[in-house]
Amino acid sequence: MSRAAVVCGLGGALPATAVTNEELAAQLDTSDQWIRTRTGIGLRYVVAPGESTSDLAVAAGERALESARRKGGAEAADVDLVVLATSTPDRPCPGTAPGVAHRLGLGTVPAFDVAAVCTGFVYALATAASMITAGVAERALVIGADTFSTILDPVDRTTRAIFGDGAGAVVLRAGESGEPGALLGFDLGSDGGGADLITVRAGGSRQRSTGEPPAPGDEFFAMEGRPVFTQAVINMSESSQRLLDRVGWTPGDLDKVVAHQANVRILHAVGEQLGLEDKQLVVNLDRVGNTVAASIPLALSDAAAGGDLVPGHRVVLTGFGGGLTWGSAALVWPDVEPVTQS
Ligand code: UT7
Repeated sequence: MSRAAVVCGLGGALPATAVTNEELAAQLDTSDQWIRTRTGIGLRYVVAPGESTSDLAVAAGERALESARRKGGAEAADVDLVVLATSTPDRPCPGTAPGVAHRLGLGTVPAFDVAAVCTGFVYALATAASMITAGVAERALVIGADTFSTILDPVDRTTRAIFGDGAGAVVLRAGESGEPGALLGFDLGSDGGGADLITVRAGGSRQRSTGEPPAPGDEFFAMEGRPVFTQAVINMSESSQRLLDRVGWTPGDLDKVVAHQANVRILHAVGEQLGLEDKQLVVNLDRVGNTVAASIPLALSDAAAGGDLVPGHRVVLTGFGGGLTWGSAALVWPDVEPVTQS
C-alpha cells in the first residue's frame, strides 16, 4: 500500500432560480420536445443578479466540509489546500479560490483556480490528489463551480438550452491506496488544435491588446455543437478505457460511470463505445443541465444521495470540455454522506 488521496466529503449547491424548457421556449425559437429529445435536459438553474461563481463555490465547499465532518469529526474539515475549477471566475484577476478559502474561514491555506472548462473538476482533482501524495498537502477541498448563464448569448437557443449554473465539491484526505475512496489513477489529455470549438473570443489578452472593443457577440460563449459532440464521445470513451487498462479493471467490472453531463445522447454513445449497460451510467442532466466544472461532483452527489452509488462501487469519472481537454479518474466509492442542503 502507498500514500493516496482519499475522498471523504461531498457537497453540492444550485442557485435558487430554476428555468424550465417551457420558459426558454417562451423566449426563444425552441421547444420542450426539441430540448428533451436532442439533449435529455428538462431543467437548469441560474444565478440571480449580483450572484457569482464564488457564492456557489462557498455553498458547495461548506457542505462538502460538513459531509467530511459527519464521518470524520471536526479534524476532517481542517483542509490545508483549496483547488477551484472554474471557467467563469468572479473577475479575470485575481483567482477566485483565495476569496472562497477566506470566506470559508480556512485561514492562509494555498488556494488557486484551474481552468479546464468541463474537464476542470477532474483536472483539479488530479492536481489536489498529486499534492497530497507528494506530501505537499494533507487535506484538500476540491470545488467545481461555474455560472455559464453569465456568459451565454441571450439569443443563442442552443447554448441556453444546455447550460446551467451550479457547484459541487469533494474533500480529499491523505490515506492509503487500499482504502475505499482512494483515487487509484488518472488519465488526462488535451488538444489545443480544437481550441476554437468551445470559446469566448473576447475579454482576454488577444483581443484586449488590439485596443479595439470586442466584435459584436464575441464576449459571449460560443460552441460548435456537432464536432464537440463527436470529440466528447471519442475522448471520454478512450480516456476511460486507457484508465481502466492502467487500473486493471474491465468496463464490466464498473458499477458506475459518472461522465460529464453534457447531453444524454453523448452519455449513451460513451456507454456503447465501452460496452456498458444503461444501469452503469449516472444521469442527472435532466434536472440540472450541463453545469460545466460542477457537473461531475453534482452527479456524484445526486447518485450518492439517491442510493444509486453505494460504498464499494467501482467508479470511473470522465470529463470532456473546452481546450479541448479530457480526463478520467478511478476509485472505489467510500462511505460518505453527501450534503446538498444547508
Ligand atoms: O460541455 C462541454 C461539451 N459540450 C458538449 O458536449 C455539447 C455537445 N453538443 C451537443 O450536445 C449537441 O450538438 C447540441 C445539443 C449542442 C445540438 O444538438 P444537435 O443534434 O447536434 O443539433 P445541430 O447543432 O446539428 O442542429 C440541428 C438543428 C439545427 O437546425 P437546422 O439547421 O437543421 O434547421 C439547429 O439550428 O437543430 C437546431 N437547433 C435547435 N432547434 C430548436 C439547435 N438548437 C436548437 C434548440 N431548439 N434549442
